[in-house]
Amino acid sequence: MCTKKVILVTCAFPYSNGPIHLGHLLEHIQADIWVRYRKMQGENIFFISSDDSHGAPIMIRAKKLKMDPIKMIQEIHKEHKEDFSRFSIVHDFYDSTHHSENKKLSQKLYLLLKRNGYIKNKVIFQLYDVENKLFLPDRFVKGSCPQCKSKDQYGDNCEVCGAIYNSIELIQPYSIFSKSPLKIKKTKHMFFDLSYFQKDILNWINRVPISRSVKKKSIEWILQGLKDWDITRDNPYFGFKIPEEKKKYFYVWLDATVGYIAASQNLFRKRKIDFENFWKKDSEDLLFQFIGKDIMYFHTLFWTAILEGIEYRKPNNIFVHGHLIIDGKKMSKSKKNFITAKSYLNNFNSDHLRYYYASKLSSKLNDINFNLSDFVNKINSEIVNKIVNLASRNASFIKKHFDNELSEQLDSSIIYQKFVMESKNIKKLFLSLNFCSVVRRVSFLADVANKYVESRSPWKIDHKLEHRRLHKICSTGINLFKILMTYLSPILPKLAEKSAKFLNYPFHTRWNSIEYPLLNHRINDFEHLIKKIENNKRL
Ligand code: MSP
Ligand code: ZN
Repeated sequence: MCTKKVILVTCAFPYSNGPIHLGHLLEHIQADIWVRYRKMQGENIFFISSDDSHGAPIMIRAKKLKMDPIKMIQEIHKEHKEDFSRFSIVHDFYDSTHHSENKKLSQKLYLLLKRNGYIKNKVIFQLYDVENKLFLPDRFVKGSCPQCKSKDQYGDNCEVCGAIYNSIELIQPYSIFSKSPLKIKKTKHMFFDLSYFQKDILNWINRVPISRSVKKKSIEWILQGLKDWDITRDNPYFGFKIPEEKKKYFYVWLDATVGYIAASQNLFRKRKIDFENFWKKDSEDLLFQFIGKDIMYFHTLFWTAILEGIEYRKPNNIFVHGHLIIDGKKMSKSKKNFITAKSYLNNFNSDHLRYYYASKLSSKLNDINFNLSDFVNKINSEIVNKIVNLASRNASFIKKHFDNELSEQLDSSIIYQKFVMESKNIKKLFLSLNFCSVVRRVSFLADVANKYVESRSPWKIDHKLEHRRLHKICSTGINLFKILMTYLSPILPKLAEKSAKFLNYPFHTRWNSIEYPLLNHRINDFEHLIKKIENNKRL
């Protein structure tokens, strides 16, 4: 068995009620780049995610489509997996939360929390759709604002006067689906005693190197006082039954977070990794989680408290990213700027999106803006004109005069070594999720490499008179391209793969390959590695 530390990386689980879109991709691409980089360093790292397959919106969508929810989530699961793989996102395991192992685990861990005294029962009042025999969560009800009386306001706040209220305070509440009037009804719910864990959460937040803004926000919530967390949903609900209760289901977020453990269980079994050793309280293995800023509360508070309550280990870090926005606006179907993974691929290449995201990603929480002309400009000027051009202009001489064979020496080992020395800094930038700086640095190096080629102007050299010199210059150009592509290969896996075929050498699987230039080595004919994006393309 491998003695290296196990590193587990997770991405939040997309819901099973719609397609993968550019927002989901931001998160999975960020994590995938990080994992690929660490795999290239030979680390024992695994990347998992899953569909989040339960909850009211999924149940309601299946009903609308007149489909069995299980069939629906299975179809969506297949599509999600295909979409991720089209963007070269390689999960070592991609689960769904709807399976018996997750059910068993959720029920077992819930009972453990209950036995440990962290579950309380409370009678609460909720809005009930009598016609459809259904309790409705806040966002599925509307009514008149209890304060300003404006009509058609949502269940938790009024968009007109800004009042915040409980949905049962709405005047003449109705269901947004059936439009039928709602009644207030009593129901018993199970709550998780979140405030009990206040100190443990604080200790954890202060111990891990979580980013400053995430720490600040989480502490702010704790200081406001933590409320008990309602983990119950009434029948009918698409989810797992709560043991020792009648017709009560776990709120989707309970079995979704336990899903992290269930997915790891599945993976660990396949890879013969010790589950207990990974999840035990003082584990030396590592857990890193990528999430968006909208679900911070669920992770830094609920999830860590649950882990404390069941006496499992906690994450070593939670990396939180901002939201993807399109031309400064939130993505939404009604604004017609909702871009799915599939629709993007109708016109564009997956590596381009990965590069564009990388050029904007750091460990910060700020939103990431997608602007089409900025995107086209970046890809054409940086990848096509700088990086790929470096390969193509040198390859043509290597083919024409040297039968695709690289020279036995470099023209300048100084420039080659300079590029190798950059590795230390670029490694740090990858590890700290500072991908925008990686891209900037490599782009700068590409300028240096192109200037080197221009200063030697191989097109002005008479190959008969200075045969050896021309050979060494172009071979140096090709070898600089190889280093740049090694640095970019976690970001541009498809281009790296094609470049490896062109160079006739799998340089892209190991970071250390930069240390050895390809000399006396036969490469393949240069074929178009990547095309320029035409300006008339639309998203
Ligand atoms: N199912 C929950 C997560 C459960 S994790 C145990 C969920 N699903 S989601 O589909 O709404 O979002 C999944 C992830 O995608 C979240 O981290 C979320 O922040 C991220 N994104 C969804 N839309 C996004 C953007 N527009 N931009 C960037 N990320 C966004 O939340
Ligand atoms: Zn109001």
